[in-house]
Amino acid sequence: MQPLTVQTMHLPNPTTFDDLLDQQIANPRDRDIFRLRMQRHFGDCLEALGALYAQHPAWTQLLEQLPERLITAYAQRRDALKIHDLAREIQPDWFAEANMVGGIYYVDRLAGTLRGVIEHIHYLQELGLTYVHLMPLLQPRHGLNDGGYAVLDYRSIDQRLGNVADFIELSDLLRANGISLCIDVVVNHTAKEHEWAVKARAGDAQYLDYYLSFADRSLPDAYEQHLPEVFPDFAPGNFTWYPELGEHGRWVWTTFNEFQWDLNYTNPMVWLEMLDILLYLANLGVDVLRLDAVPFMWKRLGTNCQNQPEVLDLLQAWRAAMRIVCPATIFKAEAIVAPDDLVQYLGLGRRTGKLCEIAYHNSLMVLLWSALASQRADLFTQSLLNMPATPSNAAWITYVRCHDDIGWAVTDHNAALVGEDGPLHRQFLSAWYSGEFAGSFARGEVFQYNPLTNDRRISGMTASLAGLEQALETADPAAIELAIRRIALLYAVIFSFGGIPLIYMGDELGMLNDHSYLHDPTKANDNRWLHRPAMDWCLAAQRHDPSTIAGRLWQVVRHLIQVRQQTPALHSAGQTLPIWTQQRHVLGVVRVHPLGRILVLGNLSATPQRVSLAVIQQASFVGRLQNLLDADALTIDIQSHEIVLDSYQCCWLSTQA
Ligand code: GLC
Repeated sequence: MQPLTVQTMHLPNPTTFDDLLDQQIANPRDRDIFRLRMQRHFGDCLEALGALYAQHPAWTQLLEQLPERLITAYAQRRDALKIHDLAREIQPDWFAEANMVGGIYYVDRLAGTLRGVIEHIHYLQELGLTYVHLMPLLQPRHGLNDGGYAVLDYRSIDQRLGNVADFIELSDLLRANGISLCIDVVVNHTAKEHEWAVKARAGDAQYLDYYLSFADRSLPDAYEQHLPEVFPDFAPGNFTWYPELGEHGRWVWTTFNEFQWDLNYTNPMVWLEMLDILLYLANLGVDVLRLDAVPFMWKRLGTNCQNQPEVLDLLQAWRAAMRIVCPATIFKAEAIVAPDDLVQYLGLGRRTGKLCEIAYHNSLMVLLWSALASQRADLFTQSLLNMPATPSNAAWITYVRCHDDIGWAVTDHNAALVGEDGPLHRQFLSAWYSGEFAGSFARGEVFQYNPLTNDRRISGMTASLAGLEQALETADPAAIELAIRRIALLYAVIFSFGGIPLIYMGDELGMLNDHSYLHDPTKANDNRWLHRPAMDWCLAAQRHDPSTIAGRLWQVVRHLIQVRQQTPALHSAGQTLPIWTQQRHVLGVVRVHPLGRILVLGNLSATPQRVSLAVIQQASFVGRLQNLLDADALTIDIQSHEIVLDSYQCCWLSTQA
C-alpha cells in the first residue's frame, strides 16, 4: 500500500515531518493511523493556534515544535493504549452510554495509597462504577496546597500516594475492569515552587514570561475593577507581591491562593508545555482529564477575565492535538460558570465536537438543593427551561456533591420569573443549609462569606445537608427516614437526567461531616475539608445489612445503578426537558431518546403529593404507566385521576408497550 499523505504544507517543513514519523514510528500501520488522524484533526488545531498566536514572535517556533511533540508522544504510547484508542474511536459515545456511573475519591482518604486503591478495587466494582475520578494526585507543593490544586510537578505522583509505576498499574487494572479513570490537571496555574516559577524567580526572563506579572499596581488595579474574588475570606485579591521577582519585585496574578501562580497563555510556549503534560498523562492510561479552572485561562482588561473566547481556542487546539495522539482520552471542563458560558465548553456552532466532551452541570446541582430547601419545583423548572440547549454529542457530569463548596448560582432573572427575589432566596439557602434557619434539617457551614456581595457559600456532606446528621443527633427515626428519602431523591434525579452521574465518596453510605480537619493546620482555615472525610470502612462493612442506614443507602444507590444500566434510553444523547407538573412540590423532567421516553417525577416535600394524570398524558405518556424504579411503588388514584407520590418519592415513569 502506498503511504498515506497528509496535508502538511502548512507545516514549516513537511519533509522533516515525514522523516520524523519514519524515524520514530517503526510500525507502518501506526504511521498510517497517525497520518489519518493528522488529516482529520490537525486543521482544527492549527486554526485555533493561528487565531491565538499567528502574530506572536514564537509562531514559527511553535509550528516547528508541535509535530515533533505529537510524534514523540505517539511513539511513547503503549500498544495496549493504542488498542484502547481504536476501541474508543469505534464507540465514540462511550462516555454518554446509560451504563456510565462514576465515583469521586481522594486516594489517601479512600485507601491510603494507590496500592491501597488497587486492593479496594472490588469495592468500586461492587458498587457498579464504570468511571472513577481520583482527586488531585500529582506532586503538590508541601504545606498548604489547596487540596492538591497547587502542583509542583505534573510528571510525578504525590510521594505520599505512590509512584508512577503504581499509577500505571492501577490505570491498567481499572481499564481491564471496564472502569475509566479521571484525574485532575490544573491548567490555569502552577504552584509557586514549580520549576518554571523557580526559574522565573532566579531571573530567567523566558520563564518569567510563563506567568502573568506586573512591575507596579497600575494594571493590577485596572483589572481588579472587574475581577471577582474566588476566596475573599482567606485569599482576598487577585495579585500577590513577590519582592524577589524581576529587578525590583513584581505583582503575580494569583486568582486563587498566593501560592498558585496563573499561567500566561498569551505565550504559545505555555500552551505547548501544557500539551506535553496532557499527552504524558494520557500515556499513563488516563481516560478523562479534568481540566481545572479552565474559565480563568485568558485575561482581558475590562472583563471579569473568565470565559474569554480565547479559552475556547486553547481548548480546541489541545483537543485536536490529543485526538491525533491519544483519542481514548477525553476532556472534562471544570467550569463553574453561568449556563450560557458553560455550554460553550461543550462545543457549539463551528466548535461542535471540537472542545470538551463533558462538563459539570453545576446549575442542576444548585437547583436541586434549592428545591429541596424550598420544597418547591418552580425555580428548578424555570431555570432549567432557560438553559441553552446542550450539544447532543457531549454529556453532563451530574452530581449532588463534590469536593468544593456549593455557591448559590441562581440568577435574579430566573428567580423573578417565579416571583422570588434572587438575593433573598440565595440568603435563604445559605441560612437553610448552615442550619441557621428555623426548622432547617441541614448541618452545613458557611464558606467564604463575602461582605461586599453578601454571598455565603456552603460546605457539608450530602447526608448532613439532607438532614441525616441532625436526625441522628436527636435519634428521631422519622427524621432519619426522611433524610434517607431526601438523599435517595437527589440521587434519583441526577441518575435520570442524562449524562454521567457521579457519586461522591461516602454518599453511598450516608457518611457525615468530618470536623477532624480543624486539627490540621494545613487544612484548618478551609472548611471544604468538612466534606472530604476519610472513608469509613466500618460503615462500609454494614452495607449488606439493610437494617442499617448505610445498608439502606447502599441499596438505594445500587438499585439506581442497576436500573440505569438497564435503561438504554438514559443515553446522554437524548433530550432532557423540564415540565411543569402543575404541582408546586413536584418536579418533572422528561427524557426523550429514540430508545424510549421517561418521565421523572420527584416529590420535594415530606408529605404525599398528587399529580394529575392529564399532565402526564400531555407529556406524551399515554397508556399503561410503569415505574422503572419500583414496579410496585406506583399509586394511581383512579377516582381523581392522579398519581400519588409518597414523601420525597421519585418515579421514573415509562409506558408499557
Ligand atoms: C477548582 C477546584 C478547587 C480549587 C480551584 C483552584 O475549582 O475544584 O478545589 O480550589 O480549582 O485550583
